[in-house]
Amino acid sequence: MYFNWGSQHSSFLDSGDDATLVLDQTSGSGIKSKTSFLFGSFEMLIKLVPGNSAGTVTAYYLSSNGEKHDEIDFEFLGNKSGQPYIIHTNIYTDGGGGREQQFYPWFDPSEDYHNYTIHWNPSQVVWYVDSIPIRVYRNYQGEGIPYPNQKPMRVYSSLWNADSWATRGGLDKIDWTQSPFVAKLRRFRSRACAYTGPTDTAQCGAPTPENWWSSAMYSYLNVDQRRQMNWARSNYLIYDYCKNIKQFNGFLPGECLKVQY
Ligand SMILES: *[C@@H]1O[C@H](CO)[C@@H](O)[C@H](O)[C@H]1NC(C)=O
Repeated sequence: MYFNWGSQHSSFLDSGDDATLVLDQTSGSGIKSKTSFLFGSFEMLIKLVPGNSAGTVTAYYLSSNGEKHDEIDFEFLGNKSGQPYIIHTNIYTDGGGGREQQFYPWFDPSEDYHNYTIHWNPSQVVWYVDSIPIRVYRNYQGEGIPYPNQKPMRVYSSLWNADSWATRGGLDKIDWTQSPFVAKLRRFRSRACAYTGPTDTAQCGAPTPENWWSSAMYSYLNVDQRRQMNWARSNYLIYDYCKNIKQFNGFLPGECLKVQY
């Protein structure tokens, strides 16, 4: 992504870890899981940069390695004091992204820790904020719509300078007099299928009791969850690529014409 993993402030993450991300004029910072996973539930408690966070982006995401990568993102776009953050979500399959959906949070995400969870299984990807599903990307591979289910991913979190685009489209720059900027991570929790090589592919994809995150009850949202998602989307969704016909010259991506819950 945008953070340079060779830089000095990067380190590794194990389940159960807490961490602090720091951005100053010399560097951003990032942390990534030691293990790769193929499907699972990935929870993180995050307290975002307080005060004037304009131009900063804190990211929490899964990504595969190498070319034509898959990626599932939460990104938090900072703002001036008192102005709302944006929760930016995206999903890449085989190197192709452009599937952004953005939300305003219904709370101040810099005041306290909130739970951001990515639940990824062979049927669907769900983005949760404090247990409320805000977005679903379902597997419609049988209809030629790409779905990330072949490549193992690591978990990443980073804080970096994105003031060329993040806040009001790049109008508000980072105020370096406020540096260092700090975001805090707590209790990273991965309940997921660890992937050590191609022989794990079948096992990680199998609907066994160990792979509970892929079980029937996690292959669709239930009625309550659909109601909650409907609430979040009707009140807080501010951008949806599926509504941005211009971006696609009139031809929306296939998944936009499908039910996504
Ligand atoms: C920042 O605040 C402005 C003004 O309220 C708002 O238009 C914008 O969506 C907010 N968020 C970002 C990341 O620009």
